[in-house]
Amino acid sequence: MKILILGSGGREHALAWAVARSQRVTEVVCAPGNGGMAQIARCVDVDLKNLDSMVQLAQAEDPALTIVGPELPLSLGVADALAARGLRVFGPTRAAAMLETSKGFAKRFMQRHNIPTGNYAVCSTVAEFEKAVDIFHAPMVVKADGLAAGKGVIVCSSRSTAFEAGKSLFSGELLGAAERQIVVEEFLEGDEISFLCLSDGQHVVPLVPAQDHKRIGEGDTGPNTGGMGVYSTDELLEPAMTDWILRHIAEPTVRGMADEDTPFVGVLYCGLMMTARGPQVLEFNVRFGDPETQAILVRLESDLVTALEACADGRLSATELQWASGASACVIASSEGYPGSYKTGFPINGLDAAARIPGVQVFHSGTTRNSGQFFTAGGRVLGTTAAAATLEEALARAYEAMAEIQFDGIYYRRDIGHRAKTKKP
Ligand code: AMP
Ligand code: GLY
Repeated sequence: MKILILGSGGREHALAWAVARSQRVTEVVCAPGNGGMAQIARCVDVDLKNLDSMVQLAQAEDPALTIVGPELPLSLGVADALAARGLRVFGPTRAAAMLETSKGFAKRFMQRHNIPTGNYAVCSTVAEFEKAVDIFHAPMVVKADGLAAGKGVIVCSSRSTAFEAGKSLFSGELLGAAERQIVVEEFLEGDEISFLCLSDGQHVVPLVPAQDHKRIGEGDTGPNTGGMGVYSTDELLEPAMTDWILRHIAEPTVRGMADEDTPFVGVLYCGLMMTARGPQVLEFNVRFGDPETQAILVRLESDLVTALEACADGRLSATELQWASGASACVIASSEGYPGSYKTGFPINGLDAAARIPGVQVFHSGTTRNSGQFFTAGGRVLGTTAAAATLEEALARAYEAMAEIQFDGIYYRRDIGHRAKTKKP
């Protein structure tokens, strides 16, 4: 089988690695890919912002399966376009992707289907917004409705900061383009869990849970990023809690989407807050998480291609995934200045030594390769991911590998997994 992967981050490198391990796969093509992916796949050019470019590439390559990594191509309807041309694709249609592309849609959908989530108001005018802010208690959360690469969520400690945030979203000051809709939400407290499942439109199969570290600074301080590290353990969720989340959140979501004639095929990523009144959905994503995917896939023992193909073909009910028991951890190294502005083009050293540490995979996020030398090419540059019997061991290996890696301005958090370690037994 030939597999085409759309995307260029650590998530896609981990997907390419897992796909390449399948006995059934003869060729992996990544578009556009990155320096790390070029070691295990053929990388070809594509414009992920341009539907025609992706369709032309898929038609020319004619893969047995296309896996869509990021949300942007899905929001443009790449899954619809490939399916219409008889190409098998793993990822939701444009209509089903609205669970991520419109926070207002997701909130109203959850309300229609009794899926637990915080109180909210969807506002289309400044007047509506001002009325909503009056009703909510501080702290509250103000969110841009559309895709904003993690920059559209503002936690506001007072009504006046909420007013300011909303006004700058409506005026276009904050994200560069004026938002047509804003969601105001109650602030939820608790531990965050990334709960990802596969779906074929009818059935749901959960992946192992993970906990992301979204803030740039240690102790979860500073601005939000795409994710600076993540871990996954069996202890993160009790079996009874996993079951509850499946029955009350993941399954009703997939059933609701099918009932509304927009069946959901792909990865349903439920961003959950484990609050005192139970798990509440903070957000849905309609794709694999980054860096969750890195930590999840190093624990997967089953054939990923067979599972994703079963989703695309609508026969997931017969699929059971096997996982390595224990834990995994991923530490992300970023460029100096990220998530603000940063420089690129610095040589990266120590990659071979890092990869030699047992159980470690180095997945590249933003790198290029030139005459055998790797260079930084993004905000998040790469991550070291390790699976082991315990979280302590997985973290120790991921950090041991990271210590081998050097580039100018390298930054990584030293406290990945800190919440797990401070949890009482
Ligand atoms: P979202 O893109 O909606 O997941 O928001 C990004 C991050 O903002 C989440 O991962 C949370 O850390 C935080 N967040 C979003 N909504 C809320 C909420 N209602 N209460 C508390 N924190 C939130
Ligand atoms: N790690 C968060 C995300 O993928 O959205």
